[in-house]
Amino acid sequence: MQLVGIIGDPVSHSLSPVMHEAAFQAMGMDWRYVAMHVRGADRLESALKGVSALGFRGINVTVPHKVECLQYMDSLTAYARQIGAVNTIIVNQFTGELRGANTDGDGFLDDLRAQGVVMTDSDRVLMLGAGGAARSLIVALLSVNARITVVNRTTENAQKLADEFGVDCAPFDQLAKVTDGARLIVNATSVGLYPRVDESPWPDEVRFPPQALIYDTIYRPLETKLIRDARAQGNIALNGLGMLVHQGARSFSMWTGKNPDTLLMEAACLKQLAR
Ligand code: ATR
Repeated sequence: MQLVGIIGDPVSHSLSPVMHEAAFQAMGMDWRYVAMHVRGADRLESALKGVSALGFRGINVTVPHKVECLQYMDSLTAYARQIGAVNTIIVNQFTGELRGANTDGDGFLDDLRAQGVVMTDSDRVLMLGAGGAARSLIVALLSVNARITVVNRTTENAQKLADEFGVDCAPFDQLAKVTDGARLIVNATSVGLYPRVDESPWPDEVRFPPQALIYDTIYRPLETKLIRDARAQGNIALNGLGMLVHQGARSFSMWTGKNPDTLLMEAACLKQLAR
């Protein structure tokens, strides 16, 4: 039996175990995916040593350890270094060394492609939020040459990201001035996340640009207020479940060398969410 898993704090809510276990089962693989609660940053280093010593093939890393774990990696992919966060660790089975990778941004692009959305050089994107999630999506979107405007509550945070990646930024009260021609609007803030389901980052008084696809990275709930409001105005809107599934599928491939069925993984998540 081979072991993979996820560390986080908290971690019991994670959909990753059911998603990966469903794929292992369907593919007849004798692998297990376990959720491991690593309480506090001071236990992170020993937890990671344990993962290596116990012969895990790899793990996912979730909040709040994604940035902190960087310092304990023996190597990093260029992408993880650029994002400054790790969501997937691959354990070298010969040396026990840990390699940090990040599949969040590519998972997002994979989901867009799976939904039939192809970004082109001139496409404008509004990125709502300037935290860790926004950061990984900006790196991904820059790789397909999108033109990005970061819109965030705290202007300094937006400005910092804008300066680092050479993109534009604007405060929320100027949103109406930057919506023209936006092809994609991404919510990478935590606004609308369960249990604050009646909130949306998008101001009521601003209309969604007619051609824009609204992408909420939140999947709990599956239909946020942002998604409801956008659909009510006739826009197409997607939740973050596809991104979750595709980042997971990329991690799965890194550990096993095999490509899982993403529809099956999504179905396993939906079943768990409905519980
Ligand atoms: P993550 O790693 O999930 O991105 P984060 O780094 O804490 O989490 O970032 C959260 C993002 O949600 C930030 O952009 C934050 O805006 P600030 O930079 O102003 O803090 C945004 N956010 C959180 N709560 C918000 C709220 N009530 N209104 C608007 N934006 C909010």
